[in-house]
Amino acid sequence: MALHGLAEVGIGVPDVAEAIGFYTEFGLEHRGDGRFATRDGGEQLRITHSPTRRLLGLTIAADDPDDIAAVAQRLTAHGITAHRHTDRVRAVEPVTGTPVTVAVRPRIAPDPPVPTTPYNGPGRIDRWGRAPFLTRTDRVRPRKLGHVVIGSTDLHTTSRFFTEGIGFRVSDHMGDRAAFLRCSVEHHNVLVMAAPVAFLHHTSWQVDDVDEVGRGAHAMLTDHPERHTWGLGRHFAGANFFWYLRDPAGTFCEYYSDMDTIPEDELWTPQVLEGVQGLYAWGPPPPPSFLEPDDLAALMTGAHSTRG
Ligand SMILES: [Fe+2]
Repeated sequence: MALHGLAEVGIGVPDVAEAIGFYTEFGLEHRGDGRFATRDGGEQLRITHSPTRRLLGLTIAADDPDDIAAVAQRLTAHGITAHRHTDRVRAVEPVTGTPVTVAVRPRIAPDPPVPTTPYNGPGRIDRWGRAPFLTRTDRVRPRKLGHVVIGSTDLHTTSRFFTEGIGFRVSDHMGDRAAFLRCSVEHHNVLVMAAPVAFLHHTSWQVDDVDEVGRGAHAMLTDHPERHTWGLGRHFAGANFFWYLRDPAGTFCEYYSDMDTIPEDELWTPQVLEGVQGLYAWGPPPPPSFLEPDDLAALMTGAHSTRG
Protein backbone atom coordinates (compact mmCIF):
# COMPACT_ATOMS: atom_id res chain seq x y z
CA MET A 1 0.00 0.00 0.00
CA ALA A 2 2.35 2.74 1.17
CA LEU A 3 4.83 4.15 3.60
CA HIS A 4 3.01 5.58 6.60
CA GLY A 5 5.43 7.31 8.96
CA LEU A 6 8.51 6.96 11.12
CA ALA A 7 8.80 3.77 13.12
CA GLU A 8 11.96 4.35 15.11
CA VAL A 9 15.03 6.52 15.56
CA GLY A 10 18.34 5.39 17.02
CA ILE A 11 20.56 7.96 18.74
CA GLY A 12 24.11 7.50 19.97
CA VAL A 13 25.18 9.52 23.02
CA PRO A 14 28.34 9.66 25.17
CA ASP A 15 26.39 9.27 28.43
CA VAL A 16 23.59 6.73 28.09
CA ALA A 17 22.36 6.94 31.70
CA GLU A 18 22.00 10.72 31.48
CA ALA A 19 20.05 10.45 28.20
CA ILE A 20 17.78 7.75 29.63
CA GLY A 21 16.93 10.08 32.52
CA PHE A 22 16.20 12.97 30.16
CA TYR A 23 13.94 11.08 27.75
CA THR A 24 12.10 9.41 30.63
CA GLU A 25 11.36 12.85 32.02
CA PHE A 26 10.40 13.99 28.50
CA GLY A 27 7.56 11.47 28.76
CA LEU A 28 8.77 8.44 26.86
CA GLU A 29 8.41 5.05 28.54
CA HIS A 30 11.76 3.41 29.20
CA ARG A 31 11.46 -0.31 28.59
CA GLY A 32 15.05 -1.12 29.46
CA ASP A 33 18.38 -1.08 27.62
CA GLY A 34 17.77 2.42 26.22
CA ARG A 35 14.60 1.40 24.36
CA PHE A 36 11.73 3.88 24.69
CA ALA A 37 8.06 3.64 23.77
CA THR A 38 5.58 6.36 22.90
CA ARG A 39 1.97 6.19 24.00
CA ASP A 40 0.61 5.00 20.63
CA GLY A 41 3.62 3.99 18.55
CA GLY A 42 5.35 1.30 20.61
CA GLU A 43 9.14 1.37 20.79
CA GLN A 44 10.29 4.37 18.79
CA LEU A 45 13.56 5.53 20.36
CA ARG A 46 16.73 3.59 20.92
CA ILE A 47 19.62 5.16 22.86
CA THR A 48 23.03 3.54 22.70
CA HIS A 49 26.55 4.58 23.47
CA SER A 50 28.65 6.47 20.99
CA PRO A 51 31.72 8.71 21.53
CA THR A 52 29.89 11.73 20.10
CA ARG A 53 26.19 12.37 19.72
CA ARG A 54 24.89 11.03 16.41
CA LEU A 55 22.03 9.59 14.46
CA LEU A 56 22.55 5.84 14.44
CA GLY A 57 19.61 4.82 12.31
CA LEU A 58 16.13 5.55 11.11
CA THR A 59 13.31 3.11 10.48
CA ILE A 60 10.44 4.02 8.16
CA ALA A 61 7.11 2.20 8.51
CA ALA A 62 5.48 0.53 5.49
CA ASP A 63 2.21 -1.37 5.10
CA ASP A 64 3.24 -4.64 3.47
CA PRO A 65 5.99 -6.65 1.75
CA ASP A 66 5.02 -5.17 -1.64
CA ASP A 67 6.14 -1.77 -0.34
CA ILE A 68 9.44 -3.29 0.73
CA ALA A 69 9.94 -4.79 -2.73
CA ALA A 70 9.15 -1.44 -4.37
CA VAL A 71 11.62 0.45 -2.13
CA ALA A 72 14.35 -2.13 -2.80
CA GLN A 73 13.74 -1.79 -6.54
CA ARG A 74 13.90 2.02 -6.45
CA LEU A 75 17.09 2.02 -4.36
CA THR A 76 18.78 -0.45 -6.69
CA ALA A 77 17.71 1.60 -9.71
CA HIS A 78 19.50 4.55 -8.12
CA GLY A 79 22.68 2.55 -7.65
CA ILE A 80 22.26 2.17 -3.91
CA THR A 81 22.90 -1.22 -2.32
CA ALA A 82 19.71 -2.50 -0.70
CA HIS A 83 19.71 -5.40 1.75
CA ARG A 84 16.24 -6.87 1.37
CA HIS A 85 14.28 -9.32 3.49
CA THR A 86 10.56 -10.06 3.16
CA ASP A 87 9.47 -7.55 5.77
CA ARG A 88 12.27 -4.99 5.63
CA VAL A 89 14.94 -3.45 3.47
CA ARG A 90 18.04 -1.61 4.66
CA ALA A 91 20.29 0.87 2.89
CA VAL A 92 22.79 3.53 3.89
CA GLU A 93 22.16 7.16 2.99
CA PRO A 94 25.32 7.98 1.05
CA VAL A 95 26.16 11.46 2.37
CA THR A 96 25.45 11.22 6.09
CA GLY A 97 26.10 7.47 6.35
CA THR A 98 22.78 6.99 8.13
CA PRO A 99 21.47 3.42 8.04
CA VAL A 100 17.84 3.64 6.91
CA THR A 101 15.49 0.68 7.20
CA VAL A 102 12.01 0.43 5.74
CA ALA A 103 10.04 -2.16 7.71
CA VAL A 104 6.49 -3.51 7.74
CA ARG A 105 4.79 -2.03 10.80
CA PRO A 106 1.16 -1.49 11.86
CA ARG A 107 -0.22 2.00 11.35
CA ILE A 108 -0.19 4.20 14.46
CA ALA A 109 -3.64 5.31 15.55
CA PRO A 110 -4.79 6.04 19.10
CA ASP A 111 -7.55 3.70 20.13
CA PRO A 112 -10.01 5.16 20.97
CA PRO A 113 -9.29 8.37 19.01
CA VAL A 114 -8.23 11.32 21.16
CA PRO A 115 -11.22 13.67 21.61
CA THR A 116 -10.89 17.20 20.21
CA THR A 117 -9.87 19.73 22.86
CA PRO A 118 -12.58 22.42 23.04
CA TYR A 119 -11.44 26.07 22.91
CA ASN A 120 -13.73 29.08 23.33
CA GLY A 121 -13.77 31.87 20.77
CA PRO A 122 -15.36 35.32 20.46
CA GLY A 123 -19.12 34.79 20.50
CA ARG A 124 -18.60 31.04 20.71
CA ILE A 125 -18.71 28.89 23.81
CA ASP A 126 -17.27 25.46 23.17
CA ARG A 127 -16.49 24.74 26.80
CA TRP A 128 -18.00 25.83 30.11
CA GLY A 129 -16.31 26.61 33.39
CA ARG A 130 -12.63 25.90 33.99
CA ALA A 131 -10.37 24.94 31.08
CA PRO A 132 -9.98 21.16 30.76
CA PHE A 133 -6.17 21.25 30.75
CA LEU A 134 -6.26 22.43 34.38
CA THR A 135 -7.29 18.94 35.41
CA ARG A 136 -4.32 17.37 33.64
CA THR A 137 -1.83 16.60 36.37
CA ASP A 138 -0.06 13.59 34.90
CA ARG A 139 3.21 13.87 32.97
CA VAL A 140 2.88 14.70 29.27
CA ARG A 141 3.39 11.55 27.24
CA PRO A 142 4.10 11.90 23.52
CA ARG A 143 1.81 9.95 21.20
CA LYS A 144 4.35 9.15 18.53
CA LEU A 145 7.61 10.08 16.84
CA GLY A 146 6.67 12.63 14.18
CA HIS A 147 9.84 13.71 12.42
CA VAL A 148 13.61 13.74 12.44
CA VAL A 149 15.82 16.56 11.15
CA ILE A 150 19.14 15.63 9.58
CA GLY A 151 21.99 17.98 8.72
CA SER A 152 23.73 16.99 5.48
CA THR A 153 26.72 18.39 3.61
CA ASP A 154 24.87 17.61 0.36
CA LEU A 155 21.21 18.58 0.72
CA HIS A 156 20.20 17.46 -2.76
CA THR A 157 21.79 14.01 -2.67
CA THR A 158 20.38 13.24 0.77
CA SER A 159 16.93 14.53 -0.24
CA ARG A 160 16.98 12.46 -3.41
CA PHE A 161 17.84 9.34 -1.42
CA PHE A 162 14.66 9.83 0.59
CA THR A 163 12.42 10.90 -2.32
CA GLU A 164 13.58 8.87 -5.31
CA GLY A 165 15.07 6.00 -3.31
CA ILE A 166 12.77 5.46 -0.34
CA GLY A 167 9.59 7.09 -1.72
CA PHE A 168 9.11 10.30 0.30
CA ARG A 169 7.24 13.29 -1.18
CA VAL A 170 8.46 16.89 -1.05
CA SER A 171 6.11 19.11 0.99
CA ASP A 172 8.07 22.39 0.91
CA HIS A 173 11.57 23.74 0.31
CA MET A 174 13.62 26.45 1.95
CA GLY A 175 15.63 27.17 -1.17
CA ASP A 176 19.01 25.48 -0.95
CA ARG A 177 18.81 25.36 2.82
CA ALA A 178 16.26 22.66 3.66
CA ALA A 179 13.71 20.23 2.25
CA PHE A 180 10.59 19.11 4.12
CA LEU A 181 9.83 15.51 3.16
CA ARG A 182 6.90 13.31 4.10
CA CYS A 183 6.21 9.57 4.10
CA SER A 184 2.82 9.89 5.78
CA VAL A 185 -0.14 12.28 5.78
CA GLU A 186 1.81 14.71 7.96
CA HIS A 187 3.68 17.65 6.42
CA HIS A 188 7.14 16.35 7.26
CA ASN A 189 8.66 13.19 8.65
CA VAL A 190 12.22 13.89 7.56
CA LEU A 191 13.67 17.35 7.13
CA VAL A 192 17.05 17.56 5.49
CA MET A 193 18.98 20.74 6.20
CA ALA A 194 22.18 21.94 4.59
CA ALA A 195 25.00 21.81 7.14
CA PRO A 196 28.80 21.85 7.25
CA VAL A 197 28.76 18.39 8.87
CA ALA A 198 26.34 15.45 9.02
CA PHE A 199 24.48 15.56 12.31
CA LEU A 200 21.15 14.96 14.00
CA HIS A 201 19.49 18.34 14.59
CA HIS A 202 16.31 17.22 16.35
CA THR A 203 13.66 14.61 16.87
CA SER A 204 10.02 15.63 17.23
CA TRP A 205 7.28 14.02 19.25
CA GLN A 206 3.54 14.53 18.88
CA VAL A 207 1.37 15.52 21.83
CA ASP A 208 -2.39 16.05 21.99
CA ASP A 209 -2.69 19.83 21.70
CA VAL A 210 -0.96 23.16 22.31
CA ASP A 211 -1.60 22.90 26.05
CA GLU A 212 0.40 19.68 26.12
CA VAL A 213 3.24 21.38 24.20
CA GLY A 214 3.34 24.10 26.86
CA ARG A 215 2.72 21.81 29.80
CA GLY A 216 5.40 19.36 28.68
CA ALA A 217 8.05 22.04 28.20
CA HIS A 218 7.10 23.76 31.45
CA ALA A 219 7.65 20.54 33.40
CA MET A 220 11.01 19.92 31.70
CA LEU A 221 12.21 23.46 32.45
CA THR A 222 11.09 23.81 36.05
CA ASP A 223 14.32 22.43 37.50
CA HIS A 224 16.40 22.73 34.32
CA PRO A 225 15.93 26.10 32.63
CA GLU A 226 19.12 25.45 30.63
CA ARG A 227 17.21 22.88 28.57
CA HIS A 228 15.16 25.62 26.95
CA THR A 229 16.00 26.11 23.29
CA TRP A 230 13.11 27.67 21.37
CA GLY A 231 9.39 28.05 21.98
CA LEU A 232 6.54 28.45 22.33
CA GLY A 233 5.91 29.19 18.69
CA ARG A 234 4.19 28.04 15.56
CA HIS A 235 6.03 26.97 12.44
CA PHE A 236 5.10 28.22 9.00
CA ALA A 237 6.12 25.07 7.14
CA GLY A 238 3.90 22.38 8.64
CA ALA A 239 2.15 24.97 10.84
CA ASN A 240 2.74 22.95 14.02
CA PHE A 241 2.97 24.46 17.47
CA PHE A 242 6.48 23.79 18.78
CA TRP A 243 8.73 23.94 21.80
CA TYR A 244 12.31 22.74 21.52
CA LEU A 245 14.46 21.45 24.36
CA ARG A 246 18.08 20.38 24.41
CA ASP A 247 19.01 16.90 25.57
CA PRO A 248 22.15 16.38 27.67
CA ALA A 249 24.22 15.37 24.63
CA GLY A 250 23.20 18.47 22.66
CA THR A 251 20.50 17.10 20.34
CA PHE A 252 17.25 19.05 20.33
CA CYS A 253 13.89 17.41 20.89
CA GLU A 254 10.53 18.97 20.17
CA TYR A 255 7.01 18.66 21.49
CA TYR A 256 4.61 19.43 18.65
CA SER A 257 0.90 19.47 17.93
CA ASP A 258 -1.47 20.37 15.10
CA MET A 259 0.76 19.83 12.08
CA ASP A 260 -0.59 20.31 8.54
CA THR A 261 -1.79 17.08 6.99
CA ILE A 262 -1.78 16.11 3.34
CA PRO A 263 -4.14 13.17 2.88
CA GLU A 264 -4.00 13.43 -0.93
CA ASP A 265 -0.93 14.55 -2.87
CA GLU A 266 -3.20 16.50 -5.26
CA LEU A 267 -4.39 18.72 -2.40
CA TRP A 268 -0.95 20.19 -1.73
CA THR A 269 1.35 22.45 -3.73
CA PRO A 270 4.93 22.63 -2.47
CA GLN A 271 6.24 26.14 -1.90
CA VAL A 272 9.72 27.60 -1.81
CA LEU A 273 9.87 29.47 1.49
CA GLU A 274 12.31 32.32 1.86
CA GLY A 275 14.36 33.36 4.89
CA VAL A 276 12.86 32.95 8.31
CA GLN A 277 9.36 32.63 6.80
CA GLY A 278 9.78 28.89 6.45
CA LEU A 279 11.15 28.62 9.93
CA TYR A 280 8.32 30.11 11.92
CA ALA A 281 5.08 32.03 11.67
CA TRP A 282 5.20 33.44 15.20
CA GLY A 283 7.06 33.00 18.45
CA PRO A 284 10.26 34.34 19.95
CA PRO A 285 13.14 34.70 17.48
CA PRO A 286 15.13 31.48 17.16
CA PRO A 287 18.42 31.57 19.07
CA PRO A 288 21.50 31.33 16.79
CA SER A 289 22.37 28.05 18.49
CA PHE A 290 19.16 26.53 17.11
CA LEU A 291 20.33 26.95 13.53
CA GLU A 292 23.95 26.22 14.31
CA PRO A 293 24.26 24.09 17.44
CA ASP A 294 27.14 24.99 19.73
CA ASP A 295 28.92 21.69 19.17
CA LEU A 296 28.97 21.81 15.34
CA ALA A 297 32.66 22.75 15.22
CA ALA A 298 33.49 19.92 17.63
CA LEU A 299 31.44 17.48 15.53
CA MET A 300 33.29 18.64 12.42
CA THR A 301 36.66 17.92 13.95
CA GLY A 302 35.40 14.64 15.35
CA ALA A 303 36.02 15.73 18.91
CA HIS A 304 33.75 14.70 21.74
CA SER A 305 30.56 16.71 21.99
CA THR A 306 30.47 19.81 24.12
CA ARG A 307 28.36 19.24 27.16
CA GLY A 308 26.74 21.63 29.53
FE1 LIG B 1 10.64 20.08 14.13
